[in-house]
Amino acid sequence: MKKAKMSVVSEFKTGKIDPRIYGSFIEHLGRAVYGGIFEPGHPLADEDGFRKDVIDEIKKLNVPIVRYPGGNFVSGYNWEDGVGPVENRPKRLDLAWGVTEPNSFGTNEFLKWCKKADTSCMMAVNLGLRGPEEARNLVEYCNHKGGSYYSDLRISHGVKEPHNIKLWCLGNEMDGDWQIGHKTAYEYGRTASEAAKVMKWVDPNIELVLCGSASRNMATFGDWELQALELAYDKVDYVSLHQYYGNPEGDTDSFLARSLEMDDFIKTVICICDTVKGKNRKKKEINLSFDEWNVWYHSNNDPVERWSMAPHQLEDYYNFEDALLVGLMLMTLLKHADRVKIACLAQLVNVIAPIMTQNGGGLFEQTIFYPFMHLSNYARGSVILSGLDCGKHDTKEFTDVPDIDCIATVNDAEDEISVFCVNRLQDEDYVLDVNILDAKGFKAFEHIEMAGYKPNDGNNFTASPVKPEYVKNISDSEGIHIKPFSWNVIRFKR
Ligand code: AHR
Repeated sequence: MKKAKMSVVSEFKTGKIDPRIYGSFIEHLGRAVYGGIFEPGHPLADEDGFRKDVIDEIKKLNVPIVRYPGGNFVSGYNWEDGVGPVENRPKRLDLAWGVTEPNSFGTNEFLKWCKKADTSCMMAVNLGLRGPEEARNLVEYCNHKGGSYYSDLRISHGVKEPHNIKLWCLGNEMDGDWQIGHKTAYEYGRTASEAAKVMKWVDPNIELVLCGSASRNMATFGDWELQALELAYDKVDYVSLHQYYGNPEGDTDSFLARSLEMDDFIKTVICICDTVKGKNRKKKEINLSFDEWNVWYHSNNDPVERWSMAPHQLEDYYNFEDALLVGLMLMTLLKHADRVKIACLAQLVNVIAPIMTQNGGGLFEQTIFYPFMHLSNYARGSVILSGLDCGKHDTKEFTDVPDIDCIATVNDAEDEISVFCVNRLQDEDYVLDVNILDAKGFKAFEHIEMAGYKPNDGNNFTASPVKPEYVKNISDSEGIHIKPFSWNVIRFKR
């Protein structure tokens, strides 16, 4: 067995974990809304048509914010189409995804659903085909108490109290030429700045996310962030990052090293934010909102009937190696908890999601459900300083990849330390010696693992073989046994 040593200093907090790092995303896309969270007539739907079985699953994931309504969808969306009496709402062609949007679910339905799902809304405005005016109106509709056109319109729609949505996205992936109303960095920076200004004039308590690049692979990455931030720095609070990974070549070793690329992406964006800050002698710091991240590629070639309504779209069936990378990606976000304040697993139900439903039927938990659930429930509090000594390996695309990856967190309220660990190697066991340097008496009392699976093993509607197990004998005096190709949660108490 190979040996690894992890030294932890519980008093040295490298980043307070903002709970919003465990956010997710519901877009009007495929069956995320219709047939996902909303299915009137389903045996388990409540009086509002919200599926209670789906809400129960989402509660297990403990998701504090959900981004809505897009995504690419938002850049062609008229929010006015989704409010007021349902029978008056228009059906529209959604050009982003080539389908028909019925608009029977909109802003007020989503906000009501958020309450029932114990979450809150991160609202995106359309800066593609629309602009500052419609964004301002939506803030007034949602957040103003009453006595103005749009707030009274909300009240006339049966919603007396304002929604008080705190967090808003200034458009979506405006750097991508696939985006409806795609813009140059200059065009976007100016539009976002003016939208931000009037949105904050309506409600000064809101926080705003400026669009960064659609991924680190965009040709304009870096320049886009620099220019957009130069134009909008004073008016925004966060800059967004998006990244999806896939493994179409079946190169598992390189796939599991992608989290190193993500780490580099985050570091670069932090540098850019701080460069604009320093250059312009600003006091305010811009933090990061990694508001789309996941594995996405399994469904890339699935056909979709044009202009159909709520088709099966982007329905990736995840396997075990995807679960390991999702764990590694969320650990990477947590390593930067001092600057990454918001993150959204994209998405939440049916569309590249941890939860899959059948129309009129049941649901299952995908493999990626579990590492997210573990981190969201047990990595609360702060990330603490740790150093890891382990072997390294090369892959086709990366050199010096650590065989195992770990983070440690402390939850002061529970006096609990947790260590999360992935063994990237498919055929080597490790013994992990966790040494908490500054606090005596902590003992491992629980070890949850996912191990013994092949890279392509997954769950589906008929069988869910991939799931976490509790390890029976945790011998932390000898070190913790980290099985090959495994996900591990080790919890310590004294
Ligand atoms: O999450 C799916 C899509 O991925 C989103 O609509 C878009 O923002 C991104 O390209």
